[in-house]
Amino acid sequence: GSGRFFVGGNWKCNGSTASIKQLVNELNSASIENDVDVVVAPPFLYIGQVIGSLTDRIEVSAQNCWVGKGGAFTGEISADQLVDVGVKWVIQGHSERRHVIGESNATIGKKSAYALSKGLGVIACVGEKLEEREASRTTAVVFEQLQAYADEISDWSKVVIAYEPVWAIGTGKVATPEQAQEVHAAIRSWLSEKISLEVALATRIIYGGSVNRSNCAELAKKEDIDGFLVGGASLKGPEFVSICNAVT
Ligand code: G3H
Repeated sequence: GSGRFFVGGNWKCNGSTASIKQLVNELNSASIENDVDVVVAPPFLYIGQVIGSLTDRIEVSAQNCWVGKGGAFTGEISADQLVDVGVKWVIQGHSERRHVIGESNATIGKKSAYALSKGLGVIACVGEKLEEREASRTTAVVFEQLQAYADEISDWSKVVIAYEPVWAIGTGKVATPEQAQEVHAAIRSWLSEKISLEVALATRIIYGGSVNRSNCAELAKKEDIDGFLVGGASLKGPEFVSICNAVT
């Protein structure tokens, strides 16, 4: 793998003031290994609460942001505003934004580049749908998504790539370590060929899709799996901490 293990908790559109207070307390009292970067992504509304109460050991991410500078864009939040309140990361291209909300590859590339230009780290998501996998189009789809990032991004030093097969997200149907490793290795080769060997070696490629405390250790052993993006299991403090500590 590449660099330090990286584990993100994507809380999605879950939680309340009370449940987030409890989750933050659980994370604050947990003991997390030194050699892992840990990031949590609360809904926008609770970011202030989380930054004000969460240990500095864990960084905060947004789940999305506007494509450029702020202004007359009702309902949006800009990267500049995220930086202003102390957010360090933003997730881009999550499958729910691609397939439920309808964001395009091109928009996702632009949003990522703008966020990077403001100093945020970007968790850049890619992943195929079940019908694409069944049609043997997995790498074609993933490479197309990567190319859209590459069209806009020149500095990859603050990019973490999250491979999240859509069929594994929230389904309890985790990719096998072999299935995940195969795509992670393909992503690393793509980076080496299209960007540079240096970027290929330095970029963390993390896996997401039904990761939990019982399947994380086997996945973490794979050569090209550098961490996880965790959804459902990140809402339970002790389970999320076990996943953070799965580094081998
Ligand atoms: O961003 C996280 C992924 O969508 C995974 O979600 O762990 O609930 O399957 P999940």
